[in-house]
Amino acid sequence: MILCKTVVELKRQIAVAKAEGKTIGLVPTMGALHEGHASLISAASKENALVVVSVFVNPTQFGPNEDLDSYPRTLEADCTLAEKMGANIVFAPTPKEMYPSKDMTWVEVTGNITTVLCGATRPIHFRGVTTVVAKLFNLVQPTRAYFGQKDAQQVQVLTRMVKDMFFPLELRIMPIIREADGLAKSSRNVYLSAKERQAALVLSHSLQKACALFSQGERNPQKIMEAAKNMIAAEPLAVIEYVEIYALPELMPIKGIMVGCNLLAVAVKFGTTRLIDNIILEVK
Ligand code: PAJ
Repeated sequence: MILCKTVVELKRQIAVAKAEGKTIGLVPTMGALHEGHASLISAASKENALVVVSVFVNPTQFGPNEDLDSYPRTLEADCTLAEKMGANIVFAPTPKEMYPSKDMTWVEVTGNITTVLCGATRPIHFRGVTTVVAKLFNLVQPTRAYFGQKDAQQVQVLTRMVKDMFFPLELRIMPIIREADGLAKSSRNVYLSAKERQAALVLSHSLQKACALFSQGERNPQKIMEAAKNMIAAEPLAVIEYVEIYALPELMPIKGIMVGCNLLAVAVKFGTTRLIDNIILEVK
């Protein structure tokens, strides 16, 4: 496996792979890799001749009071796991490599899709995500790019970007990987104290409860949201940011009862750690 730290080195590797006619799978990450990331790398290596994993804690998607400085950085372990899962190249640039000039070119998706849910409290977040992912797409020119359903809103935003900008690639969306007890794997789980880790189980439990109501035929989004919200609110260490349902794919508010595909998404703080989780409720 090759570790590329500069854009020049990466471009050289990509040019060789393209000349050989290889399909390329790209897995963008911010590092601190866990089994969630591993599942994306593994899928990419099954479907492509060359797999590129990017490891870059992207400063433009963090707000001023967020965890950019404390975000876990574990490049050596990341390279070991990426290689084990089938990566051929790890691209780990510095911020200066990705953002060479002070003045920025932004790629921004507008509308409901970026202003509801996480967009409401993280107004610059998705602009940072789309800008860095667009740069990675242009550098790597992947045949397929892999993202996790864990970040459901990110998936919808990137789907719109690919469509609107005519990026010639396929987005592959992979299921949420969870701990044995149901907590969605996240690089931020390491911030949790033992008590917060236990309390955080309320996220997956509340989604299971909502899912059970939905399976029993409940189609009123307010009722489902309330059931999930009440359960989370009963956990003393949980501070709710949102528990909401929107219609997919554009994340529009639901008028009346649910039809088609809907996203129930939650964001909850435990101490200083903000966790997200979600499920899709599909009316067939
Ligand atoms: P990061 O949080 O490192 O996640 C990288 C990818 O791994 C994302 O597509 C995310 O959805 C996926 N992922 C994380 N936890 C997962 C889990 N438990 N199960 C399945 N997939 C999981 O998302 C980002 O980085 C950044 O915003 C990025 C797209 C790299 C742009 O900077």
